[in-house]
Amino acid sequence: MGSAVVIIFYGSILFCLVGVVVRLIKFIKMPVHLKWEFYKGSSIYEQMEWWTKEQVNLWEKVKSTILDVLLLREYYHRNRPFWSVLYLFHLGIYLLILWHVWLFIASVAVEPETASTAGLIWGHTATALAFIGGLGILIKRITDSELKLYYPPLHYIKWVVMLFTLLEAFYAVQYYFDASMPALLKYVKTQVTFGDIEHKLHPPPATAIHVLLASIWLIYLPFSHIMRLFLRYYHYLVYDDVPNVKGGPMEHKIRKLLGLSVSWSAPHIQKGKTWGEVATEIPKELSKGAAGK
Ligand code: HEM
Repeated sequence: MGSAVVIIFYGSILFCLVGVVVRLIKFIKMPVHLKWEFYKGSSIYEQMEWWTKEQVNLWEKVKSTILDVLLLREYYHRNRPFWSVLYLFHLGIYLLILWHVWLFIASVAVEPETASTAGLIWGHTATALAFIGGLGILIKRITDSELKLYYPPLHYIKWVVMLFTLLEAFYAVQYYFDASMPALLKYVKTQVTFGDIEHKLHPPPATAIHVLLASIWLIYLPFSHIMRLFLRYYHYLVYDDVPNVKGGPMEHKIRKLLGLSVSWSAPHIQKGKTWGEVATEIPKELSKGAAGK
């Protein structure tokens, strides 16, 4: 049983890395018109006489991305009550990610006995914020008629699993490790340095369940909104607002796509022609109809 936990955990890390890289490669190889699906909106091209406006430089885009991710600005402007719980949840998750990074580094860099309780307070505060925010999201998704309208039922289960993950992590630190930072750091150190293989293969239930729950989230990550957001901002930073100038790389890509032939037909689309022809010629049927009027 213990070795199955180890295999599932390291397997899920590998799965997550491969899944993220495969999605990224697929995205980079997508033709330009499919990449537009990831378009973030509010482009300079939405403005009248955009060519007279100043181009947004890369630094402005990076700043805007950081503010979006840190403050979840879109939700702040669109739905303030929902944003307040969404923000609590994300603040907790961001602090928990930083806490794990600190825990792994501190376990090998700091003498465990010298560890202060500040690390414990940080971990518990982050878990509490994520839990309160997550519970708030679940309640809003159940009670708010607009928010529940397009919410797939599977996502409710996701929030129950999320809340359970947070509760179990709190239990492991507070009760299994007796809220002792030195004990926790010593345990993490033997795990990250592979210091005690026998112990690694027979983890106690509190840490085994924590690791299994973490594996679920690692497997889910390549399919989650986080990956989609990553691609959306990648698109924003790399492709958005790149002007389609004569002889430029964008014109080259679009020209190639317009040269592809159309494989389906409809009253306004004729089979056997290229997309360039379809886009620039009026179909015979339609032009006859227009002449008859
Ligand atoms: C612009 C940045 C972000 C926005 C707008 C955003 C928004 C959201 C939304 C709308 C949800 C779903 C709420 C619901 O189901 O009702 C969510 C869930 C979640 N977010 Fe984010 N998020 C952002 C960035 C991040 C980042 C960077 C992380 C972690 C690294 C993260 C972690 C999570 C997790 C773990 C969930 C729960 C699982 C899920 O729905 O996939 N989010 N976020």
